[in-house]
Amino acid sequence: MYIIQNGTLVSSERVWRADLAMEDGKITAIAPNLAPKPGDCVTDAKGCFVFPGFIDPHTHLDMNNGVTTTADDFSSGTLAAVCGGTTTLLDFATQDKGKSLKEALELWHKKAGGRSSCNYGFHMAVTDWNEHTRQELMEMISAGVTSLKVYLAYDALRISDAQLLDILQECRSLGLQIGCHCENGEIVNFLQRRELSRGNYGPAAHPVSRPAAVEAEAISRYAYIAGLAECPITVVHLSSAAGLEEVRNARRRGQTVQVETCPQYLLLDESRYLLPGFEGAKFVMSPPLRSVSDRNTLCQAVLDGEIDTIATDHCSYRFAGQKELGRNDFTKIPNGAPGLEHRPALFFTQFVSTGLLDPERMCALLSENPARQYGMFPQKGLLAVGADADITVWNPNTVRTISAANQRHQTDYTPYEGMTVKGSASMVFVNGILTVRDGVPVQTGAGAYVFRKCTSTSLR
Ligand code: URP
Ligand code: ZN
Ligand code: ZN
Repeated sequence: MYIIQNGTLVSSERVWRADLAMEDGKITAIAPNLAPKPGDCVTDAKGCFVFPGFIDPHTHLDMNNGVTTTADDFSSGTLAAVCGGTTTLLDFATQDKGKSLKEALELWHKKAGGRSSCNYGFHMAVTDWNEHTRQELMEMISAGVTSLKVYLAYDALRISDAQLLDILQECRSLGLQIGCHCENGEIVNFLQRRELSRGNYGPAAHPVSRPAAVEAEAISRYAYIAGLAECPITVVHLSSAAGLEEVRNARRRGQTVQVETCPQYLLLDESRYLLPGFEGAKFVMSPPLRSVSDRNTLCQAVLDGEIDTIATDHCSYRFAGQKELGRNDFTKIPNGAPGLEHRPALFFTQFVSTGLLDPERMCALLSENPARQYGMFPQKGLLAVGADADITVWNPNTVRTISAANQRHQTDYTPYEGMTVKGSASMVFVNGILTVRDGVPVQTGAGAYVFRKCTSTSLR
């Protein structure tokens, strides 16, 4: 038995002082002053918050984009995750065109199995919609995959509007969650060609080719089509005020729209693309970073409760040799940036240490809401007897500076280089196993596959 004493426990509704005991991977007791028995391990969490382990519902580990493979695989990515306080992530198994969902799922199980330090589950990215794919959806549910992602951008991934309607109808009838990458791919292609024809080859052309209107139009279309299917939807990695306005419009029409955004859209802005040389490539992700005004609007939306989950969209490429593939053509810069390790500290620093939000809200956005939305609650996302012992003991008093030199991501840079962050995970338990102490891994490979159920839970 392991007992965490004197901590301040956190749920989405309250904070309270109690001890917490765990055994065989489960929380076994929560009460003031639990008495240890001989042989029990006891640790003191005085002055620390005890959160249900943080959940990152949007990562891309060991993902090949057709040209190159992400710097982080499940081994390094999940280790970075636990060091930062994340105990479960949901990665995107991605169907290749001409291949089945089953093949994609088997491949992702091979990538993750036996090497993951945090728990992991999979969304299924559907890129080739046909009758066979339709038949496979039930199999996915039986295999614990209860959420899909579709893309409206990227030629190798995107589906048509008619396919989108068909998929949304299936999701509605089967109870699958659906998230969408909302950018109008045809317009992006056109604008990319236009920028290149104007001689704009550098990273500064990236946001020009993917303006906020491209996101807003896609969100609007996605929402209207979902309205036809009467299907609740999720917008992933929301980046712009214009996009948020389309979410609001759909909600005003009575639709259920859940929204995810990411630290990069809350902390960084498009001025990064104007950095000298090829530095801007480090920030090439889709959707791109936006204006300061967009960023402020999204931060206010977090404060106002319009955002449901904070994920990373961790999709890491090294600058040397990978981002550099697009040195002479911005359209060839691999899209994506690292962030998995830093999300809890970035969020705590920006919103909780400043007093803008309380720890309860952090618990909701980083743990309970993703657990509820994606069929893992109450096993995950909640400190309760019988729940999984995925626990992050959070010390609010540490101060450190993020740097590529001290991170665990396998990238030679971080978008957050030089940022001072407050708070860190002082102890992290995955399935009841102590995996990290004071930022240092003490056990690797403790993660397990998370078999998820369909949920009618809507966060709205
Ligand atoms: O640039 C990004 N975000 N790459 C990852 C794939 C995606 O669109 O989520
Ligand atoms: Zn996406
Ligand atoms: Zn993504």
